Order: sequence, then C-alpha cells, then structure tokens
Amino acid sequence: MNMKNELSQILDEASAEIKNQDINSELLEQVRIKYLGKKGRITDILKRLGTLSSEERPAVGAYANEIKTKIGGLISEKQKELEILNSQKRLAEEKIDITLPSKRRETGRRHPISQITLELEEVFTGMGFKIAQGPETEYAYYNFDALNSPKNHPSRDLQDTFYIRKDEKEIREDDILLRCHTSSVQVRYMENNKPPIKIICPGRVYRPDQDSSHTPVFYQVEGLVVDKNITLIDLKETLETAFIKLFGEETEIRLRPHYFPFTEPSVEVDCKCFICEGNGDSCQLCKGEGWLEMLGAGVVHPKVLAGCGIDPEVYTGFAFGMGIERLSMIKYGIDDIRNLYENDIRFLRQF
Ligand code: PHE
Repeated sequence: MNMKNELSQILDEASAEIKNQDINSELLEQVRIKYLGKKGRITDILKRLGTLSSEERPAVGAYANEIKTKIGGLISEKQKELEILNSQKRLAEEKIDITLPSKRRETGRRHPISQITLELEEVFTGMGFKIAQGPETEYAYYNFDALNSPKNHPSRDLQDTFYIRKDEKEIREDDILLRCHTSSVQVRYMENNKPPIKIICPGRVYRPDQDSSHTPVFYQVEGLVVDKNITLIDLKETLETAFIKLFGEETEIRLRPHYFPFTEPSVEVDCKCFICEGNGDSCQLCKGEGWLEMLGAGVVHPKVLAGCGIDPEVYTGFAFGMGIERLSMIKYGIDDIRNLYENDIRFLRQF
C-alpha cells in the first residue's frame, strides 16, 4: 500500500475511534498518543518519508501534515465536547431539590427547674445581685452554728439532715453533712466579703423528705443583702419587684410572721393565688387559702452578722430563701413534685 493510502486509512481509523460513543477523556488521550505521539502512526509515516523519491516526498509530506492536523482537530473538538458533557453530568449529579422537606432535627430543651432558676438569676442580677456558690457537702458550722441554730434544734436530727460524718457523743461544728439550705453559702460569703453585699445563692440542697411535695434533693435560690440602713421594707420591696417580674403585673405579696433562727423578725412570704385571685372558694391551687406560700425570709439576726465579722451596730441586712420545685409547681400547675424528676419526655416537652 502506498503511503497516501496508508494515511487515508489512518485518518479513517482515527476518526472512527474518536467518534466511538464509548469514548471518554482517558481513551481520547490514548488515541492521541496512538496517532500523534512520538511513537505514533503519523510520526512513523513522517519518519519513513526519507524512503520516498524526492518527487513523491513533498506531496506525501504535505498530505501527512494535513492528516495530522485533521486528527488533531478532531481530537480537540471531541475534548471540548467531552468537557461540556462532563460538566453537565456533574451539575445533574449535584443538583439539590430545594422543594424536598428538610430532615427534622431533634432538639433538647431546658428542664423547668433550670428555666425557673435562670429566670430568677436574670431577675435578681438585673436588680444588682451577684451570684454566689458554695460546697454542697458542708461543715455543720456553716449549715447550723453560724446561722444561730441552737445545738438542740430539731432540724439537726438524723431524720432531718443527711450526715456524712457525725460524732456519736456530741454535736460538733465540724460534723460533715449535705447542706439543707444554701444559707451556708451566705455565711461563707459574709466571712470573705465586706458590705455592701447583695447576692443570690442558687444550688442543690438535701433533706430526708419524700412525698408528693418533697424530694430528698431539691433546688433553692436564697438571697442576702447587707448594708447600712437595710430594713424589712427593703425586703418587701425587693421581693415584690422580683415576683412581679416573674409572675406578672397583677402579682401581690403579703408577709406573715414566722420563725427562723437566723432572722429576726422572720416572715413567710405569700403570693395572692394566681387562680382564684385571693378568694379561695374551692380553689385547687391554693386549697381555699387565697394565698400561696412562696418563701421564708427576714432581717438577718445580729448574732449571724457578728459571727461573720460584720458589725451589727453599723450594718443590717435581709435574707430570703425559696424552693425552686415549689415555685415551678405553682407557676406551671404541677401537682406532684416527682413529675419533675421522672424525666418522662412527654412531661418535659410541655415546658
Ligand atoms: N434557709 C431557709 C430554708 O431553707 C429559708 C430562709 C432563708 C429563711 C433566709 C429566712 C431567711 O427554709
């Protein structure tokens, strides 16, 4: 076969391979190497031009170059075509159907006790209170003695306090127990800080009670203000403001005389019942009382201040303490405290 025919055949074969419908970028590159590469078929022909006569050579040489250019052209055309196809394919694969509904992500939520604690922290810090914390395992001194609690006070009994270490023969200040209120934090704070003092102490406390309104572990927020000229009026004013923020504009409070060893005078603070608005008649929430008991409070006993190194002739203070479970039960109308601790998602989802 003469070289011209050979060249025409090469062109036919090459274009058939390029047009093959299974072609892709890699195969196309192989085709290029096969025909136009250093050891390719066209190169082979060009090398063999020398075997031709000087008359034949220019025409065959020109023809060989023409074929080379044609094949090169076919290849680059095909390349462009493949690139377009590839990018269309990628776009199709990566297409996002924005009309599909999204996957629902399960989110948690705050436990009602955390919610109320945070709300209280927000209300009181908004009124200039700082947040103080202390140990849950405590010396009897901070839980009782420093709070003017008599050595024979019934709350010290084994049935009323969880002891970690208790002297068998006598009542000691270094007996170790689980704190039964966060008043212990107030004592620690007063030992280490000078008035003016304005703190709340949120935290976990422990008492061996268990029924529909008591759990052995529960939460309290207690508060303490010590400064010059602090009176019961400041206490009432502060609590009224706080409860209005918590429960709304209509909230009314009243103080009732009570007894705590660490305050004198001592009071219990009630809120007018949110359901019957004070009228009581067969009301489920306040059990006919018309008022709901919210917390204990009072003017800090001079002995407590003195014991913490604060001069009661110069300074006075008030303190209050409330149970968070009780508050959330009233706020959300929960009738059994145990609901708060069973972690039944159907219950918790309501808040
Ligand atoms: N510590 C008291 C209790 O746990 C509450 C209280 C605090 C009362 C401060 C008066 C003053 O019941």
